[in-house]
Amino acid sequence: MNMNKKKFAVLGFPIEHSLSPIIHNSFAKQINVDISYSKIKVDLEKFKEVVIQLKDEKFTGVNVTVPLKFEALKVSTSSSEGAKLSKAANCLTFKNNKIIHAENTDGFGLVKDLSNKKIDLMNLKILIIGAGGATSGTLPSLIKCKPKLICVANRTIEKAEKLVHEFSEFYNYKNLQFDSLSLKKFSDYDLIINATSSSLNNNVIEIPKKLLDLKPVLYDMMYGPKSNFFLSQAKGEKKFDGIGMLVEQAAQSFYIWHGFYPHTSKVIKDLESITNGS
Ligand code: ATR
Repeated sequence: MNMNKKKFAVLGFPIEHSLSPIIHNSFAKQINVDISYSKIKVDLEKFKEVVIQLKDEKFTGVNVTVPLKFEALKVSTSSSEGAKLSKAANCLTFKNNKIIHAENTDGFGLVKDLSNKKIDLMNLKILIIGAGGATSGTLPSLIKCKPKLICVANRTIEKAEKLVHEFSEFYNYKNLQFDSLSLKKFSDYDLIINATSSSLNNNVIEIPKKLLDLKPVLYDMMYGPKSNFFLSQAKGEKKFDGIGMLVEQAAQSFYIWHGFYPHTSKVIKDLESITNGS
């Protein structure tokens, strides 16, 4: 084995379908760097033990996915502001065999993907549905774009209220609201993002007709066929699944580890055809 080969992995449960190895290997080819990137299935109970083992085995870093992102922050020894506030991390970097540094690149990935799609968040009214890790992980980046309004709507309204309270206070951002899923606080949203896990159980988040009639952009953080549950409600032309976000969050992890931000457009196109079966 090449001793200079840098070692990485993605940890999650389940993990079989993760596209992260394909993405990171194609980025590595762009700069001719020799890496290994494996998928490791690990549950919450074993997570800490496995992370420490990988650090001791001189891995450079790991990506962390559902349901381990909250735990990833807990095992870290230092963390970025966004990860701290989100209480969730998806990128751990090992340094000097001692430090486990946690970052959350999901928000960066979402904003970068929207920007690739020429969606400028600054003047938009955004509705984000869900108040779990997917929402808390991306809110710091969304808030930094200073949209006109962000409303967090959740089935359990108390969770949305708590998130909104914490984030608006920290960022001193007044245009953050919360709502229940019945969306009584109507607004003319320009962009509606699904950050729930509902489609994993084949459930549809139903958007009220009066919101859809305004033809907002619909964005689902899920990708592939599962995103159809949400996106098929679109009345406008613009609807996107989360494959671009997946690639861009990976690109930011790659940048953290290699100091090079990879070209992403071809990788996104290739994965779109794999995940949508076209
Ligand atoms: P993640 O870390 O992936 O965001 P999570 O923390 O379990 O996962 O959060 C999942 C989110 O999806 C929550 O906002 C959850 O709503 P509750 O807070 O009310 O549980 C939401 N969610 C999951 N299934 C849903 C469904 N069928 N309808 C509406 N919301 C759903």
